[in-house]
Amino acid sequence: MKILIIGGGGREHAVAKALIKNVAVEKIWVAPGNGGTAAFCENVDIAATDLPGVLAFCQEHQPDLVVVTPDDPLALGMVDLLEEHDIPCFGPTRDAAQLEWSKGYAKAFMEKYNIPTASHYMAEDAKAAKAYVKKCPIPIVLKADGLAQGKGVVVCLTREEAVAAQAQLSYGKPDQAILFEEMLVGPEVSVLCFTDGKTIVPMPAAQDHKRAYDGDKGPNTGGMGAFSPVTVYTKEMAERCMEEIYLPTIRGMEAEGRPFKGILYFSLMLTENGPKVIEYNARFGDPETQVVLPLLTSDLLNIMVGIRAGKLDKVKVKFQDAYSACVVMSSGGYPSAYEKGKAITGLEEAEKFGTVYHAGTKRIADGSFVTSGGRVLCVSATGRSLRQALRNCYRGVDTIKFEGAFYRKDIGSKDSALVKED
Ligand code: AMP
Ligand code: GLY
Repeated sequence: MKILIIGGGGREHAVAKALIKNVAVEKIWVAPGNGGTAAFCENVDIAATDLPGVLAFCQEHQPDLVVVTPDDPLALGMVDLLEEHDIPCFGPTRDAAQLEWSKGYAKAFMEKYNIPTASHYMAEDAKAAKAYVKKCPIPIVLKADGLAQGKGVVVCLTREEAVAAQAQLSYGKPDQAILFEEMLVGPEVSVLCFTDGKTIVPMPAAQDHKRAYDGDKGPNTGGMGAFSPVTVYTKEMAERCMEEIYLPTIRGMEAEGRPFKGILYFSLMLTENGPKVIEYNARFGDPETQVVLPLLTSDLLNIMVGIRAGKLDKVKVKFQDAYSACVVMSSGGYPSAYEKGKAITGLEEAEKFGTVYHAGTKRIADGSFVTSGGRVLCVSATGRSLRQALRNCYRGVDTIKFEGAFYRKDIGSKDSALVKED
């Protein structure tokens, strides 16, 4: 079996590592991949958003499965295009992925199917947004409609902040729709689920750390670390989410004629009025994938094949009863400007403590690695307790050096599993 994975982050490295475990897999290509995938896969120099390039590659090399992981090729309809050419794909169609690529669509969908979420007002353009921001309730959350990779969301505690956020999100874009949302309060969890459109199987809940610095300070990033499972997401909460959120979502999508097949990732806020959806993602999360896939004891390829066949109910999906965590190391300056090409050392040593998933790394001619992105890599580790998993991650992180490296030192520190062990 030959597989092509689309993408080049830590998440794709983790997906590739899970897929290669299946003995039937002879080859994995990753487009474009990174320094980590180069070690056991073949990186292909095609951008994740280059639909004609990916199609041409598939026609020449005939992969048995293409796994489309990032949000943008899904939003561009890569799965639809490849399937039209009889190339088997894992991932939702463009219409199903609209749950992620249009916040407006997702909001209208949740309203129609009574799925709990923040109340909202959609301003269709800059003029409507400017008028509404003067009278909207405060606090308020403003979101630019469309894919913004986490950077199009501003939580505003005062009217001045809201006015400034609106001006910034609308700047130079008179037609940009802006979503105004009630501010939800409570712990946030990411629940990634396998679904074939009829059956939905949640993975253990994870918690991401989006802010750049300790204490949830600094700018929003792609994610600086994660852990799983999350104590506040109890068995009772999981059952409630299944009834009120997960099943209504896949049933609603089926009723809309857009059955969702792939990974559906629920970003939830556990408020005092119950769990509410912050947003949907139509894909694996990054870095959540680097903590949940190491807990998966069943075969990922079998699950993906089962999902494509619409037979997820017949496939074994089991996770080990352990803790998992990961700590992301980033380039100095990230998420703003940063330098690339810094030599990375200590990678082999770090593997003694956990698994290093590469993101912004490049393997150079002499076989060593240099930085090539903002989030450079993460060290992921499991353990019998959260503390043990985190200790292993940080031991690994301590061995890895590159100029300007920074990471958060407080991943998982708010979870009561950790507090209790003190
Ligand atoms: P999103 O890109 O929609 O996931 O938003 C990025 C982050 O903004 C989320 O992870 C939350 O921490 C925060 N956020 C988004 N929507 C809300 C909301 N309605 N209330 C409070 N915080 C929110
Ligand atoms: N960890 C956030 C995301 O993948 O969108």
